[in-house]
Amino acid sequence: MKEYKYSLDYDHPLIAELYDSTENSSDDIDLIRSLIDDFNALNVLEPFSGTGRIAIPLVKDGHRVVCIEISKSMHDRAVKKAARLDRNTRNRLALIVKDAVYCDWGGGYDLIILAANSLYELDSPQTQTKCIRNASRGLKSGGYLFVDNDDYKGNWGRGPFGRQQVVFEGHGADGSFGRSIKEGLRFDESDRVLHLKRTWFYENPPGEEKITTYLAAQRPVSHDEVKQWLEQNGFEIIHEYGDRKGGNYNIDSERAVFWARKI
Ligand SMILES: C[S@@+](CC[C@H](N)C(=O)[O-])C[C@H]1O[C@@H](n2cnc3c(N)ncnc32)[C@H](O)[C@@H]1O
Repeated sequence: MKEYKYSLDYDHPLIAELYDSTENSSDDIDLIRSLIDDFNALNVLEPFSGTGRIAIPLVKDGHRVVCIEISKSMHDRAVKKAARLDRNTRNRLALIVKDAVYCDWGGGYDLIILAANSLYELDSPQTQTKCIRNASRGLKSGGYLFVDNDDYKGNWGRGPFGRQQVVFEGHGADGSFGRSIKEGLRFDESDRVLHLKRTWFYENPPGEEKITTYLAAQRPVSHDEVKQWLEQNGFEIIHEYGDRKGGNYNIDSERAVFWARKI
């Protein structure tokens, strides 16, 4: 069976369309905006940028944003949204298709955003810490990092395994239909990696079906380890939130959202 090196392959136009129609919360954008309220025209980098859900509002606010996205379909959707911006705003947005784990992030940024479970896209502590290290190198001294993930509570080893679960499904504007399914195969407790079988079921408007199946791996991260990685990579933690609305973090919080400054 085909293998995908990370957690989920988003590279299908209907996946990008369904992502946009389902992921329409803006709490994290509001939180980021409140944190940078005092700053004008920041140089921002957003790896794992998807369809530009966060980047587009930020360029509209006057910031310059560089996006790094691995999936051409997610990127193409961001390009389409950018085309609707006025020229000056559009010129503040750079959209790059690359694997953020292995490409050069550049340097001198005021703010780097790792939003919406970006670290859960990855397959290992090595690739996850590489991103935190890249963020540290990519920021100028005094620059900020926003990292937002679910706070892993240590329960993935319980499964379910061998059972198919629908992750998302829906119709595209053209009448096509897609369903993304995952099936947990096993959880390696030592390196804490979930091995998965993923299936993407697609039916085009004339009704022809295509089923793609592949193996993937996903590694959850906890509040404590992200905090440790930040401290080991020269960050001072300014705020720890337990949700995207800016509520304080506690051990029962579902999320671990860090606002950290590069020392
Ligand atoms: C959950 S989406 C989040 C998108 C965006 N940050 C947001 O908040 O709307 C995660 C995105 O990360 C992208 N991604 C996954 N692995 C990546 C990698 N190694 N390099 C760059 N992008 C990656 C996926 O293709 C997907 O578009």
